[in-house]
Amino acid sequence: MIPESFVQELLARVDIVDVVERYVPLRKAGANYSACCPFHSEKTPSFTVSQSKQFYHCFGCGAHGSAIGFLMQHAGIGFVEAVEDLAGSVGLQVPHEERNRAERAKKAPLTELMARAMRFYREQLKVSPTAIDYLKGRGLTGEIAAKFGLGYAPDGWQNLDRVFDDYNEPALVECGLIIVNEQGRRYDRFRDRIMFPILDQRGNVIGFGGRVLGQGEPKYLNSPETPIFEKGRELYGLPQARKAIHEQDTVLVVEGYMDVVGLAQAGVENVVATLGTAATGANVQKLIKTASRVVFCFDRDSAGDRAAWKAMDVALEFVTDNKAVEILQMEGNQDPDEYVREHGKEAFVRYMNSATRLSEFFVRELMRQKDANPNTPEGRARLVHEAKPYLQKVSAPALRVQLTKDIARLAQMTQAEVEAICELKPLARSRYAPASMKHRPVPSSIEYKLLEVVLHKPTWAASLPLELVDTERPEGALLHAIADAIDHGELPAGGVGLLLEFFRGSIHEPLIAALAPSMSDDADWAAMEALFNDAIAHLRHGARDAEIKALTERARQGLSAEEKRRLTELLAKKHPPPGSTKASGL
Ligand code: UTP
Ligand code: MN
Repeated sequence: MIPESFVQELLARVDIVDVVERYVPLRKAGANYSACCPFHSEKTPSFTVSQSKQFYHCFGCGAHGSAIGFLMQHAGIGFVEAVEDLAGSVGLQVPHEERNRAERAKKAPLTELMARAMRFYREQLKVSPTAIDYLKGRGLTGEIAAKFGLGYAPDGWQNLDRVFDDYNEPALVECGLIIVNEQGRRYDRFRDRIMFPILDQRGNVIGFGGRVLGQGEPKYLNSPETPIFEKGRELYGLPQARKAIHEQDTVLVVEGYMDVVGLAQAGVENVVATLGTAATGANVQKLIKTASRVVFCFDRDSAGDRAAWKAMDVALEFVTDNKAVEILQMEGNQDPDEYVREHGKEAFVRYMNSATRLSEFFVRELMRQKDANPNTPEGRARLVHEAKPYLQKVSAPALRVQLTKDIARLAQMTQAEVEAICELKPLARSRYAPASMKHRPVPSSIEYKLLEVVLHKPTWAASLPLELVDTERPEGALLHAIADAIDHGELPAGGVGLLLEFFRGSIHEPLIAALAPSMSDDADWAAMEALFNDAIAHLRHGARDAEIKALTERARQGLSAEEKRRLTELLAKKHPPPGSTKASGL
């Protein structure tokens, strides 16, 4: 992570006017500068840059942020990249700091081992004519192979022995490169396979997919889940696609490694793949942050149809009203890679633009898959019944109204009737409490107090006792999300503006946006820290009292020796005997 102090120093050194001017010609207008907004199309300027506040704001589309945020939004790059770019422009060196030592000890060597393995596989590809021929046979050039870091794991059980000083190093098992069998023998996971390195957003190698050359089972062997590789969160090809995604403001999501690589070979570069799993909520949230339009593409087989339904399901939950999700089903039994090889780029792009909108897909597939035929009263009743769980999870208010109206029209009911039958909560509430959360933010809750501090000091979220933070509350869920982002090294350090940037389009945005304006500029850190520790102590005491209560209630039926010991311990902490030091924590 980049230390917050550095970000502040950097923002103090650069002038946002210079930064914006690199991309947008500015005109002096009173105390501020103005221009036509680069983030939406307009004829009269509503984009302003304030030199005194070092802030930009568009009155038209609401875009706003610091110099860093501008670069991120305008160049479509990540936080770290934007900081590095800015630091370079004023001659500063970016210091990187890990969250804590334990994390560094855990994560850095693993990605280093993976990077070393990738270099080895790439070298091996160069000297393996059969592997080269295989890739050529699939229409790939050396340039594309290099862009995706493709490699070859040679045949043989312990090739990695040549690569690492100590083949018995436990970290090699931990990162999934080496397997230990029941007899304790160690061997390379990947043998005689084409290797597709999987990179995280920062370009670290976190996993591999390995394909057999030709026929064989399994066709693809993947890295297991490891401390650095969580399949449901990652998208294959994202670092390579980022620029094209930004330029086209569209991202295409396909099913396979080869679809990403084959499409890139054909010149369709704004493509990523899910990693052998159906799209997850984390995927959708990440995707709608990268582009305004997300097109999910699926093969036309039963697995593809199931995956399309699953993608629709999570997209309904996480899409926001300013983003579009579409679903593209391939025709025949061609996948995108095969299609683009046969028909070429233009035909593929045309086909992609025929994708079905999320709303249309939802209603159409609901009628088809749930056998809800709107031509009979029973079918219409069934349509509403089947729609209910999906309508309930939509958190984008305008989309929910649209879908409700569509269903109502087909079911020959009024919108109010569908809303009543589906038990849809009023919209004003769902803005802050998406369907997946049962509660509204409560300003007097402990989570809310913690959140107020964490918005000032996001890095503090790393020290929260998350197991005690209620995810059912929106403010608790946001605390979890912030801690999670820190854990993955994704969190921008540098104030609530960037936090808002980071969560833009997610279910958490409204809550941050609601709290941000009332935050004071000159926070009293000592008071904050006291407030923070106090709230955590409250959480712990609450958990302790709940446990005492549960144990006391059960005491009538008798407690085990262990439970008795625990109860005594808890009570001693709650009421420390006079003279002992003050009890803290559990
Ligand atoms: P497909 O079976 O559709 O393969 O798997 P593909 O993408 O067309 O691959 P090629 O063109 O035959 O090389 C799609 C994705 O499912 C996962 C992989 O992520 C793959 O890219 N998969 C498939 C596996 O993980 N293991 C397998 O054995 C098969
Ligand atoms: Mn294929």
